[in-house]
Amino acid sequence: MELRNKTIAVTGPTGMVGPPLCKSLAADNRVIALARFSDPDARADLEAGGVECVAVDFAAADFSAVPRDVDVVVNLAVVKTGDWKTDLAVCSEAAGHLMSHFRDAEAFLHCSSGAVYKPNGGRPFAEDSPHGDHHAHMMPTYSIAKIAGESVARFGALEFGLPTVIARLNVPYGDAAGWPLFHLLMMRAGMDIEVHPDGARYNLIHDADIAADVPVLLDQASVPATTLNWASPGLVSVAEWCDYMAEIDGCGPPKIVESDTAIPSTVMDTGRIQALRPDRLVGWRDGIRRLVENHPA
Ligand SMILES: NC(=O)c1ccc[n+]([C@@H]2O[C@H](COP(=O)([O-])OP(=O)(O)OC[C@H]3O[C@@H](n4cnc5c(N)ncnc54)[C@H](OP(=O)(O)O)[C@@H]3O)[C@@H](O)[C@H]2O)c1
Repeated sequence: MELRNKTIAVTGPTGMVGPPLCKSLAADNRVIALARFSDPDARADLEAGGVECVAVDFAAADFSAVPRDVDVVVNLAVVKTGDWKTDLAVCSEAAGHLMSHFRDAEAFLHCSSGAVYKPNGGRPFAEDSPHGDHHAHMMPTYSIAKIAGESVARFGALEFGLPTVIARLNVPYGDAAGWPLFHLLMMRAGMDIEVHPDGARYNLIHDADIAADVPVLLDQASVPATTLNWASPGLVSVAEWCDYMAEIDGCGPPKIVESDTAIPSTVMDTGRIQALRPDRLVGWRDGIRRLVENHPA
């Protein structure tokens, strides 16, 4: 799908993944961002990038201020308060409200997560691998709310005849943000970095590849919904990316500590997304170097 001169609604625009994506989409499209905008600076940053912002609280489920006439929806919104009612409302039920509201759109991209998979000791997760509470120790509501969100999106695709793609993202990062940035700051503070004993390996996916994947994923939107892993090939462990960041930054060797309560590996089978978009823009070493250089000590 060519994303040019479209009207695109993006939820979760102020989070980690949303800002670079919204600004990249806004270069050629009208982008309407939906969030509470609890951080006014985040809103100002989006508006400076040409993004229109409409304040809405998904937990309250009042979408009356939101325009209906959009071509495409990208649903990134998520919350991890640990309160089941709130987290299920925002991560799951809101997907249903959005699909109802935007039922006439051409395509709906529902962002899910590799956290929907049952930990399996670090073997690749294919799209039909079993579900489980992957993030149980760190974020008790997250995996279950994301699994529930997918079910709502599958129902919405059928109920509203809305072409839908469910994309299980893992692990996003970019020049400005991401899980490795937390590790960089922890290393600089001399803190331990807990990793799961299963090898703690993940597929990092850079902002630039996330933006480039979006039109390709939207092309896969269908009724019933299509479900795809959304990840770059090339596996890397937390220990490897921390070693590399320490080498660039000079902040000393990482203090890696194994813990059963750390987030288990999320090794994604990238076969299907790779077939759709074989050429990736940013390899993990380049991406990590950019992240470190963008955050001088
Ligand atoms: N970050 C990761 O490592 C990762 C990994 C795999 C998958 N994902 C998926 O990628 C997507 C984006 O994640 P992220 O890390 O960018 O999220 P994030 O940083 O936690 O941001 C969450 C976004 O949701 C909005 N939001 C939260 N509560 C809301 C409410 N009640 N009403 C309306 N909007 C609300 C927030 O804006 P306000 O607070 O202003 O409302 C914010 O824009 C999610 O679907 C997530 O599951 C992320």
